[in-house]
Amino acid sequence: MAKIIGFIIRKGGTGKTMSAVNIAHILSVSGYRVLFIDLDSQTNSTEMLMENAEYQYADFKKLFCTNFSAKDIFYDEYIYETNYNMLSCIPSSPELDTIIYDIYDALKVSPNVMLCLRQNLELVSDDFDYIIIDTNPGNTTLNYASICACDGILSPIKADNFSYVGVTDLLTTINDLKSRYDISPDFMGMFFADVNTAASGFKQLKEYYEKEYRDLFIPISIRHSVFVSDSTIANLPLLHINKKHPATEDYLQLVRYLRLIDEEHSISLQRFLAAKFSRNANTDSAHT
Ligand SMILES: Nc1ncnc2c1ncn2[C@@H]1O[C@H](COP(=O)(O)OP(=O)(O)O)[C@@H](O)[C@H]1O
Ligand SMILES: [Mg+2]
Repeated sequence: MAKIIGFIIRKGGTGKTMSAVNIAHILSVSGYRVLFIDLDSQTNSTEMLMENAEYQYADFKKLFCTNFSAKDIFYDEYIYETNYNMLSCIPSSPELDTIIYDIYDALKVSPNVMLCLRQNLELVSDDFDYIIIDTNPGNTTLNYASICACDGILSPIKADNFSYVGVTDLLTTINDLKSRYDISPDFMGMFFADVNTAASGFKQLKEYYEKEYRDLFIPISIRHSVFVSDSTIANLPLLHINKKHPATEDYLQLVRYLRLIDEEHSISLQRFLAAKFSRNANTDSAHT
């Protein structure tokens, strides 16, 4: 039974895509079977995981607004292999820019349409250990359906007040959806995803978030690093750019803090980190 984790916050540019891709990749090199769903119409995650791979745009209206009767449709029409072992992907599509209207219209006929994504994913749930969802920014029907599908939700935040507003909105939305549907997504917490931890004011801001949100605030911050932009230019997850730089170490620490990796998989991860070249990726251009 896969654990479904969504990277969701209304604000754009907070690190949802970087966090979703890198955490999915860390889980896959640890030996977990991971399905990545790219619901961000900017296609960044898809480009990073499936560079040069051929795929057809999936019918997202069907995925979000109808109930599938069998899982074959996922493998026939939605799920592709990525450039990485153990990591499959439902790639993004430009249709994701307008799907919010389709879901909105379908909801007028049946409010249970909100649960279609969740019910459809249950069909492939035993084929994966984790399903990771990257989302579009915004407070939209697309994100509401994603929240309903999730077991856990993580919010990367920026070191500013706009993120504070974004998280507050998200918590209200989650509670509202919980009251309307029989769902129980767990808000796993928020973390700073692109920060200069040495900057004056950061310590104060962190303390403020800790005080305001207590255990909803994750005390692991992802440090700002030039390797992150290198990774977007090369279209490679961070572990393939440099296994030891600060942002990679922070993502590894975050995954451990969240207890996403058990002891057995931790050994596989250690082996991957110790290897000179990344053995379990088809991408041979990996650096150490
Ligand atoms: N730790 C980091 N260090 C440097 N740049 C980062 C870091 N995390 C994210 N970024 C950059 O910030 C921008 C926004 O990140 P992204 O993951 O695309 O946000 P979102 O998906 O929330 O819109 C991207 O250009 C990304 O490369
Ligand atoms: Mg994004």
